[in-house]
Amino acid sequence: MPKILSFSDLDYSQNLKPEFVPPPRFGKTSFSTYKPSHSSQEIALGRVQSFLGQEARAKSKWPWQKTPFRANGLYLDGGFGVGKTHLLAAAYDSFKAQKIYLSFSELVHLIGVLGRQGAKKELGNYQLYCIDEFELDDPGNTLIVKSFLADVFVTNAKVITTSNTAPEAQGQGRFNAEDFKREIQSIAKNFELLSIDGPDYRKRESLASLYSNSEFNNAILSQEDSLKKLKASWSELFDILRNNHPINYLKFLKQIDALYIYDVATIAWQTDALRFVHFIDKLYDLKISLKMTADIELSELFDDSYINTAYAKKHYRCLSRISELLEE
Ligand SMILES: Nc1ncnc2c1ncn2[C@@H]1O[C@H](COP(=O)(O)OP(=O)(O)O)[C@@H](O)[C@H]1O
Ligand SMILES: [Mg+2]
Repeated sequence: MPKILSFSDLDYSQNLKPEFVPPPRFGKTSFSTYKPSHSSQEIALGRVQSFLGQEARAKSKWPWQKTPFRANGLYLDGGFGVGKTHLLAAAYDSFKAQKIYLSFSELVHLIGVLGRQGAKKELGNYQLYCIDEFELDDPGNTLIVKSFLADVFVTNAKVITTSNTAPEAQGQGRFNAEDFKREIQSIAKNFELLSIDGPDYRKRESLASLYSNSEFNNAILSQEDSLKKLKASWSELFDILRNNHPINYLKFLKQIDALYIYDVATIAWQTDALRFVHFIDKLYDLKISLKMTADIELSELFDDSYINTAYAKKHYRCLSRISELLEE
């Protein structure tokens, strides 16, 4: 029988170079496979395409001649499963000049590591920026992102971003967003807002069930032997999640193809829940197989004490993604 890995078998030391391309789940995504199921999706599809074809706004020849302001950013806002990331990856796919694709949290982390000047030098030379899951969750991020985008917009580059939160509502409930209203508005004014509505494309009406013990053991045996499989308990998983920076979750996820978690239980604290949400986002993007077993229902994963607070959308998105993964 092939070896089943545990977390201690993984290499945590290697330095991963960011790839700046859409993750495997969206690796072959294009406009041609986007099928609008709501008028706002039809509009979004047309607008993203025309935005890419659009000439960069010309600098006025004479300083006293005011050219009408046109935002060089497009902000796709909507609930989960309406195809925002699909459109983002399709935009990346169709754009022929220098382009970069990354998540908002990766961008913030990179700017933190490189500093404003370093980020401008290393990340400032693209003509299209595709940024998934724009989310201001603390004042520090707000300021770094504001400066970085200001540097990008003066070069006339285009920026497309996706989010679950309208630009002006960024930060609400997460930090004292009122105090940063000016900064948030100065970011928002560069973006044209496209609100995308419609049902979750995956049409999920109920959550999948977690596996019973025997289904779980059968899955481990029946999935292809060529897969790199990792099995761990719920508490082992949380040791890893707590002891590594979320930006590094990608590092060890890239070393496996299938993850089996047993003794799954309700996550008591919001901070752990956010780590777990981020972990599932990465695992989902990488198309890693996931099986989980427990005595609880999937709907009981997040505790009532925090599930419906400022991060509610993240929690529900996570449950929807786990459902999809469990059924894959
Ligand atoms: N209108 C659509 N046509 C084709 N596929 C879609 C459409 N909307 C969503 N999808 C697919 O459904 C899944 C979820 O969409 P995604 O873009 O991740 O949604 P969001 O980013 O809005 O949460 C993806 O696999 C995506 O390719
Ligand atoms: Mg998305």
